[in-house]
Amino acid sequence: MKRTKIKSLLNTKATGQEVCVKGWVRTRRGSKNVSFISLNDGSTINNIQIVAEGDYFKEDLLKRITTGSAISVIGILVESKGGGQNLEVLAAKIDVLGDADPDEYPLQPKKHSLEFLREKAHLRFRTNTFSAVFRLRHALNFAIHKFFNDKGFTIIHTPIITGADAEGAGEMFQVTNLNLKKIPQLEGNIDYTQDFFGSKTNLTVSGQLEAELGALSLGQVYTFGPTFRAENSNTSRHLSEFWMIEPEVAFADLNENMDLAEEFLKYCIQYCITNCEDDLRFLDTRLANEEKNLRKEERSEMGLLERLQFVIENDFERLSYREAIDILRNSKPNKKKKFNYIIQGFGSDLQSEHERYLVEKKFKKPVIITDYPKGIKAFYMKQNDDGETVRAMDILFPLIGEIVGGSQREEDLHKLSARMEEMDICKDELWWYLETRKFGTCVHSGFGLGFERLIMFVTGMKNIRDVIPFPRTPQNADF
Ligand code: 4AD
Ligand code: MG
Repeated sequence: MKRTKIKSLLNTKATGQEVCVKGWVRTRRGSKNVSFISLNDGSTINNIQIVAEGDYFKEDLLKRITTGSAISVIGILVESKGGGQNLEVLAAKIDVLGDADPDEYPLQPKKHSLEFLREKAHLRFRTNTFSAVFRLRHALNFAIHKFFNDKGFTIIHTPIITGADAEGAGEMFQVTNLNLKKIPQLEGNIDYTQDFFGSKTNLTVSGQLEAELGALSLGQVYTFGPTFRAENSNTSRHLSEFWMIEPEVAFADLNENMDLAEEFLKYCIQYCITNCEDDLRFLDTRLANEEKNLRKEERSEMGLLERLQFVIENDFERLSYREAIDILRNSKPNKKKKFNYIIQGFGSDLQSEHERYLVEKKFKKPVIITDYPKGIKAFYMKQNDDGETVRAMDILFPLIGEIVGGSQREEDLHKLSARMEEMDICKDELWWYLETRKFGTCVHSGFGLGFERLIMFVTGMKNIRDVIPFPRTPQNADF
């Protein structure tokens, strides 16, 4: 008999029919006379209740129906007599497909800490929280491709192994198949001509530079792939391997870039609200319960669903870096020296405490900061006439901080070359990038969205390690 997924079963109107369900047991309770089994198959956050009457099933079989075991059930779909669910399956036949010895199975029907579950990443998909998070991750992934497809963008799969290490977005992981015990030398240096690619290579920190090449022909492109940063930042918002979405648009200036990013973020959030109601409602309750344990001043003002709705309904606040610095310099925490990094004036980089002050205290909504000092931004950003700032934009989100970083790109060959020389960036290595400014250059812009940071925002999860199936962080590449 063909199995029906629990998600469609729970939406069925016609009771009285015979059905087959397969899944993993969440709990079994009951008496000698009757067992109630809560079964989940991953298609939805909701379980179906299986009723197994003691007369029909041997004690031996029922004993094997423990939390975590996989079972197959054939029975009649009926309206439930008990509260808490509308439908249940009155079991006629149960097969245990895979046992889960209760003395060894690590996930018991009680609350486990997220830290504990990170060590059980191979099994944590089976919890309500993680199944909801990963269904939302899927929905966001799909929404992103749909958004760009509907707008006529072309995806460019940019390389993961790259010879260019000049983007400056972060420390890189080197890729080599040289024998590390016997590294070939040439005049005192490593002889990379003997390495696999005949030159030094790394894992990419961003697909932007290659995406720009695509945009300057295809008009509107995006990349969506894994990126790698070898920084030793052990925070709740940094991964060593994370996924980034980078659109790049020809003939678009910074304002159009900000409009696109704002529309894009709102679209993705709305997509989840429309299509993932059950999972979001579950996570909303989860977060509310979690926050009950916090001190009052540490609790968020809004619940998860409320916050998502709020972001969709309000324009993001747009202000320049100079304006942001003025606000921060005159803010209470700065004057009272409550910030760890005191804002002196123009040139200071914004730390996450400053970003959170602007977003959570001052404006209480997403904020886009533009026109940063050139000294703290990448070489490729469009230089402003003031000679001090570049046409950068960062989007800051409540509880997350920076979620998007982008800019208008410098399209003038001479200005770009001069900036690369100033910043000591090897022009020979990026000859191909410079050629796009030599042949048919034009105004263009783009940005990068950190996929996991978006998932954190939508799910309310507070640690980035809990929104990617198998996180890679310093000292950890398990699973
Ligand atoms: O601001 P970033 O470094 O920008 C770039 O890489 C540009 N090339 C993007 C572009 O203009 N095409 O990174 C973009 C975003 C950040 O805003 C943040 O959301 C995320 O990527 N991000 C990280 N996410 C998780 N772990 C890390 N270590 C991250 N570093 C950046
Ligand atoms: Mg950035």
